[in-house]
Parts: sequence; structure tokens; C-alpha cells
Amino acid sequence: MQINVTSGALGAPNAGALVVPVFADGRLDGAAQAADHALGGGIASVFSSGEIKGGSGDLVLLHAAQGDVKRVLVIGLGDRAKFVPSALAKYAGAAVRYLGKRNVTSIAFALPAEAASQPAAAAGFIVEGALGGTIDSTTYRTEPDKPIVIDQIAILDATGDVAFDRAQLETGAEHGRIIGEAVNVARIMALTPANDMTPTILATRASEVAAQFGLTYYALDEDAMKAKGMGAILGVSRGSDESARMIVLEYAGDPDSKEKLALVGKGLTFDSGGISIKPAENMHEMKYDMCGGAGVIAAMGAIAQLKPKVNVIGVVPSSENLPGPRAMKPGDVLHAMNGKTIEVINTDAEGRLILADGLCYARELGATKIVDAATLTGAMVVALGHSATGTISNDETFRDHFIDVSKSTTEKYWPLPLYDEFSTTVKSEIADLRNSTGRAAGSLTAAAFLKAFVGDVPWIHLDIAGTAYTDAETPSLAKGPTGYPVRAFVALVEDAAKAKNGAGVNGAAKATASVN
Ligand code: BES
Ligand code: MN
Ligand code: ZN
Repeated sequence: MQINVTSGALGAPNAGALVVPVFADGRLDGAAQAADHALGGGIASVFSSGEIKGGSGDLVLLHAAQGDVKRVLVIGLGDRAKFVPSALAKYAGAAVRYLGKRNVTSIAFALPAEAASQPAAAAGFIVEGALGGTIDSTTYRTEPDKPIVIDQIAILDATGDVAFDRAQLETGAEHGRIIGEAVNVARIMALTPANDMTPTILATRASEVAAQFGLTYYALDEDAMKAKGMGAILGVSRGSDESARMIVLEYAGDPDSKEKLALVGKGLTFDSGGISIKPAENMHEMKYDMCGGAGVIAAMGAIAQLKPKVNVIGVVPSSENLPGPRAMKPGDVLHAMNGKTIEVINTDAEGRLILADGLCYARELGATKIVDAATLTGAMVVALGHSATGTISNDETFRDHFIDVSKSTTEKYWPLPLYDEFSTTVKSEIADLRNSTGRAAGSLTAAAFLKAFVGDVPWIHLDIAGTAYTDAETPSLAKGPTGYPVRAFVALVEDAAKAKNGAGVNGAAKATASVN
């Protein structure tokens, strides 16, 4: 997809379609007003007939018999007073999916005047959303859906009398390209069925991302993990013939600093539950149990391109969880890398086991801050549904900072408590810890389990079980993986680099609360 910023308020002359925003108040201004004139009042008339109301995602395609602008796609952005640039990701994604399915290959996007104070963010969300709209999840069909191929998008540098800062639009568009492509990398990895996405293949994908963008890569195989005492991930992997991997990507943006942020992602390529086997219904969705890991790998690729002045490592413990003849059994006791012993109560609580060793390893590699992301508990889906990611931490300042930073993205994070009593709940009668407790506060006891492996390193746990994938197609996104938590990971790292110049989300005053 070629991405351009073009002059003019009405559209790149050769674009297959011009996309203009409208709001729920029905007031036509800027590009919408100009397009309305060009169409002889066509937009005003679809408003007055009630065919479009300007609500978020509301859209209508209008055609012109003559003139430069052949097609105008009018898309609603909802309440004008509540406009935020991130709404433009849905706007662009919906346009790409709607027009792409109708053979349009070139699209010009008008921005609302409301975005004039944040041109870089606006352009970034347009590009991110447009790229997100192109994903096709039917590639395994012998006759896949016709792919959505958008050769070109253009962002118009003016709407009506309002001109946008062109340099900012260009910088923002390039940023959006990096984020949007990384999100798609993560989504495609997650979409890949588990027979084509084993721990070894996930490691190969990580090595490819590393080679493409210049990251250090290596992966521990099972012998190397054994030598490190990683008995928790090895316990999970016993039930499978596929060999586990501990995947590592390293980005050294600030060699003079000892600070190092670790991004740790659950890379469970298929979760059958093991001996504590899951019900058959929806088990196929457990190919998505590596979304956290895919998110780390993709985010590292984006970070390598953005080159922030911070040090970041990505650690992805990757395994299958199957009930093979050598599988770990309920009642078994495993020895994690930090020497702690774990009684396996339920082999389906395997995510916290592989993360236990992943978190220990991140510390061995020098992590001074850790953020992990994992499709960890079904209880998370019960608590927050598919709307927000539960955000749990041993450091509330760090957690609140992360949530603040995430607000500059389309991803949503919500704080949940990590009370000391949950650490009591996860104690075992015969070992240090047990991997499963009762149903009560299932996501929080899981976090309390992880806490036992981070020592005193400030750490945030993101339970993306509800947000990593959806079974509902939206106008802007195919069903399936969403790309969580790529955007927030990258935003956190970029904010850390900015905080060094006193320009992070909270400015210099709170710079100590940021990652570096
Ligand atoms: N991968 C699952 C969690 C999950 C469930 C993610 C549904 C997405 C959708 C995890 O490994 C798991 O099985 N967790 C168990 C833990 C329990 C046995 C303590 C769960 O949530 O049921
Ligand atoms: Mn499980
Ligand atoms: Zn799992």
C-alpha cells in the first residue's frame, strides 16, 4: 500500500473514492461540505432522508455522474464534541473494507477539522486503520475471498479552510504504517493454525522479524532450558512432541543506560488443557493462546524501526499444552527457574507455568521493568468481556502510567487490584505454590502466582484473554485476532524515550514513573 499526503481539500484526482467524515449533528463543513457541493447536495439529502445519521460507523456511498470525484464514501464519526483522533482508525478501516470489497483500489481520506490540533496522530490512525482493514482470514480456502487490495491511500492536507501541518501528517503517517504493519504481523501469526504455528515455527518467525529490522535474536531449546532449570515450561511441554522454545529478541537503543524494559508474551501455540482437558466446544480457538507472544515479537519489530533511545528485550516462552503419554499430571510438582516449587493442580493453568520461567529469565537478562501479556484466564473474559484488558501490577504508579500512555492508542486497559491475600491463596500445601485455586478472582490469583516470579522488579501483567481476538466482525476489522497488545507496548516504549527529554505523557515531573 502506497501512502501519500496530498494537497487540496477535495481529493486526489485519480482516487477511486474520496472518504469524508460527518458528525451526528449533521452539520456539513470542510470536505463534507465541498463534496456535498460537488454532488449537487447529495450528502445533505442523505442526511435529511435519514439514510445516514452521522453516528460512529454509519456509512453511505454516493456516486457522481461527472467531475473529478467519482465516488464519495460518507462515514459518521459520532458526537463532534467527543472526537478523538483514534476514532479515525475505525473510520479508515471501515472505508478500506467497504471499498476494497467493491474493487476500489485507491482511496483519498479527508480529515475532520477537529483533528487540526493533532495532525500527526490523525494521519497515524488513518494509516493504522487502513492497514488493519486489509487482513484476509480466508487464505486457507482453495478459493479465498477476493483479497482487499488497496494500492494507494492519500491523506488530504486540508479540509475546507483548515490546513493541516504537512510535515506532521507525513511523520504521523509513517508512524501509523509501522504500527499498522506490526499489528498485522501479530494478527497473521495468531491466525495461523497451530499445525502451522508450533513453538519452533514461532521462533523462526521471530528470527525473521529480527533479521528484517535488525534485532538480536536467539532461542533456547529444551536442552538449554533444562540447563537453566526451567522446569515449569518443560513440565508443560512434556505432553507434546513439539519442542518448546524460549524466544529472545533484543533491542539496545541506549547502550549507556542499565535500564531495560522486558516485554514478556505467552506463546502457547495450542492449549488443549493437557490432562485436565478442555471441553471440545471452542477448543479450536486455543490456537490463539500465543497472541501475547506474537504481540511481543511484532512490537519488537516496530520498536526496531522507530529506534527510541531505550533498551527493550522481548521474551516469549513458547510451548504446546497437550495430553501426550509423558504429559505432566495433576499433583505433579515442578521446579521453576528461580528454585520455587509448583504443585500442578490443573494442567490447564499452563500459561502461568511457562510465564514463570519467562519472567525469571527476563530478570536474568537484566530487566529493570517488566510488562507481560497473556491470554491467561477465562475469568478475564467474564470480568471485562471483549472490551478492555485487565491490568494488574505490583507497582500502581507504573500501572497507572501505562494506562495513561495506552490512551493514545485504540487499545483499552483497565486496572484491577493485586491484594496480598491473593498471594496466600496461591500457596500449596506441599510446595511453594499451586497453579490453580477456586473460581473466585481467577484472573487476580493468576496474577498473584506470576508475582512470585518477578521479585522486586516493577511489573505489569496484561490479561488479554478477552481482547486478543474476537468472534464478531466489525465494519473496520475482520473477525479473529485484534493485535492486542502491540499498540500499547510500542506506545509505552516511545513514551519512555520521550520522558528522557521530559516530554512523556506526564512530562518531566513524573518521568521516574515511566519505563526508563
Ligand atoms: N488459555 C487459557 C485461558 C483462556 C480461556 C484464554 C478462554 C482465552 C479464552 C488458559 O490457559 C486456561 O486454560 N486458564 C484456565 C485456568 C484455570 C484452570 C485455573 C481457565 O481460565 O479456565
Ligand atoms: Mn489452559
Ligand atoms: Zn492457555
